[in-house]
Amino acid sequence: MGKILVTGGAGFIGSHTVVELQEAGKDVVVLDNLSNSSEKSLERVEAITGKKVPFYKADILDRDALEEIFSKEDIYAVIHFAGLKAVGESVQKPWEYYENNIAGTLTLTDVMRKHGCKNIIFSSSATVYGNPAFIPITEECPKGQCTNPYGWTKSMLEQILSDIQKADNEWNVILLRYFNPIGAHKSGSIGENPSGIPNNLMPYITQVAVGKRDHLNVFGNDYDTHDGTGVRDYIHVVDLAQGHVKALKKIEENAGLKIYNLGTGHGYSVLDIVKNFEEATGVKIPYEIQGRRPGDIATCYADASLAKKELGWEAKYGIREMCEDSWRWQKNNPEGFI
Ligand code: NAD
Ligand code: UD1
Repeated sequence: MGKILVTGGAGFIGSHTVVELQEAGKDVVVLDNLSNSSEKSLERVEAITGKKVPFYKADILDRDALEEIFSKEDIYAVIHFAGLKAVGESVQKPWEYYENNIAGTLTLTDVMRKHGCKNIIFSSSATVYGNPAFIPITEECPKGQCTNPYGWTKSMLEQILSDIQKADNEWNVILLRYFNPIGAHKSGSIGENPSGIPNNLMPYITQVAVGKRDHLNVFGNDYDTHDGTGVRDYIHVVDLAQGHVKALKKIEENAGLKIYNLGTGHGYSVLDIVKNFEEATGVKIPYEIQGRRPGDIATCYADASLAKKELGWEAKYGIREMCEDSWRWQKNNPEGFI
């Protein structure tokens, strides 16, 4: 059948997806510029699967490098994770975000079509729903106003990839809207490794637990939720990775254009996560209530029934395993991939 190119495959979700793809018997090639990751993650993947991970250190903006990869390798589908993803940074550096994420994807898809590879699975986000019109969020929920350039790159790339597919129905495009990925592989050897101060809740909590940070700042306790703190749909990264294996099967059946939410359908508040983490690990997480974080919404969780119906996929792991596995990774690797 040929190979699958995984862009951004050295990153958090990419590395977990490479594990699941190799374990499903797929032939994988990874491309990453390592701007937010380490090649060590791929060595760890090799240790987990016992298979070699062919790797190109390259940028999706580098047309020549892409030409070389597509000429050498027999690639039939791309799983496209490569992108910049820090919300706050995107507000400071919008040009860099639009160039990397949008120009990068345009270059990638141009080289793909020139080489007759017209199958792509794209990492989108629940952020495209903005402040969602209804909860639980189905794929029918209208897209909303994003509060930052990062979110807009996802929303715009969804539009761009949809238009490409509509103009040429040889393309198969699957847009996967992730909710909040956390957790790590059971081995504890790969996981999320944010640089600097973590923006997201779970890496912040694990850094408090490992003693790198003093306490968690809870951003607001006056939302209209059961305890006043923000509610999200946390999903285990291994479940998310398996969603890509199922999406690839759909691509192989000539899916056309499809959009799926990948979430669990359950919402947990910030304080629910703190409590579950403490129960799962026995480690206390001191916290302080702060003001709301600009751009945050009260509640966001998925109706993930379409992915179940059409992909035969549903999340298997619960919040306890997400907490245990996030902690195992952090505890074993307090300084990340060194
Ligand atoms: P990550 O930063 O760990 O992985 C992204 C990878 O892409 C990194 O390894 C980085 O080095 C690489 N990369 C960035 N720009 C590149 C370029 N121009 N050329 C080549 N490689 C490049 O992030 P992640 O959490 O694994 O996210 C993967 C994808 O999923 C991203 O597109 C992200 O926006 C999307 N997403 C993530 C989340 C989340 O919460 N983690 C939620 C929704 C969507
Ligand atoms: C954020 C991004 C979103 C991205 C998603 C997954 C914003 C506005 N949105 O969403 O674009 O797709 O991550 O990567 O940043 N919280 C705290 N203290 C912290 C960190 C978070 O209380 O130190 C709270 C937040 O206010 C929120 C919840 O925890 O209620 C989850 O936050 P986070 O992990 O950043 O994810 P999202 O806000 O869903």
